[in-house]
Amino acid sequence: MGRLQGKVALVTGAGSGIGEGIAAAYASEGACVVVADLDAAAAARVAATIVAQGGKAVGLAQDVTREQDWDAAVARAQAEFGDLSVLVNNAGIAPCADPIETLSLADWRRTLAVNLDGVFLGTRAGIRAMRAGAAGSIINISSVYGLVGTTRAPDYVAAKGAVRLFSKAAALECAEAGYRIRVNSLHPGFIDTPMLERGLEQMSGKGIVPDPVTGRAAITSLHPIGRLGTPTDIAAAAVYLASDESAFMTGAELVVDGGYTAR
Ligand SMILES: NC(=O)c1ccc[n+]([C@@H]2O[C@H](COP(=O)([O-])OP(=O)(O)OC[C@H]3O[C@@H](n4cnc5c(N)ncnc54)[C@H](O)[C@@H]3O)[C@@H](O)[C@H]2O)c1
Repeated sequence: MGRLQGKVALVTGAGSGIGEGIAAAYASEGACVVVADLDAAAAARVAATIVAQGGKAVGLAQDVTREQDWDAAVARAQAEFGDLSVLVNNAGIAPCADPIETLSLADWRRTLAVNLDGVFLGTRAGIRAMRAGAAGSIINISSVYGLVGTTRAPDYVAAKGAVRLFSKAAALECAEAGYRIRVNSLHPGFIDTPMLERGLEQMSGKGIVPDPVTGRAAITSLHPIGRLGTPTDIAAAAVYLASDESAFMTGAELVVDGGYTAR
């Protein structure tokens, strides 16, 4: 028996990086997985890979900022596999932002729309879908930058910090209402994904780092453990939060950062 046998999970932004790793790990632990992503082809590719390996998955096009996409995603999960029991709000963007004094309102709002509004809409949809169920788990992917600040990402830090406290508010509401839904945030350090690659290219293009290789070494050195994280590192924590092993955990923040925030 897998650790997630009988669970139905929806993972957003699962066509790449951390979400892809989480979707694969969930399927290998026995969950039925809805692989949702803005990039429909990427979602379909990840779902097909899981199915080819003997798992249960479907791919779905979804923009987490659109309310109607949430209704459709939850309905699809129900139709394919039955009642939703796990939701991972993972989709996110990390533009290399301008300093606060020159950051445009449009750029600020874009990051907040995906990284915070998307988590709100997902958590709302998840509560509505899971409130009558036996045991639900909502996992909101924040960041070390939901715990500490940095430069050149004021929009990202604001959104990820808000995700941390929003998750606690949701956890308390669910507990008070008597819903058996746990809500926790997960805080990765730097993880080796396409998002990181794009970030290094952008920083290099803006002259913030001399080149992506030097930038990667500088970012790696922020992690006392001596390496970047992998999607597998984060997937392991997400399996734990989705499983009944974490039944007494709600409103908590799980930090998986190679020691980044320990200094
Ligand atoms: N990579 C890191 O170093 C790191 C560190 C901490 C937290 N995170 C967080 O982890 C999450 C995943 O990051 P990743 O590194 O795997 O990034 P990624 O860019 O590799 O994957 C993100 C996925 O989200 C999708 N997406 C973007 N906007 C979307 C939208 N509006 N609706 C639906 N899907 C959308 C993209 O198509 C992509 O497939 C993000 O929330 C990110 O902020 C990443």
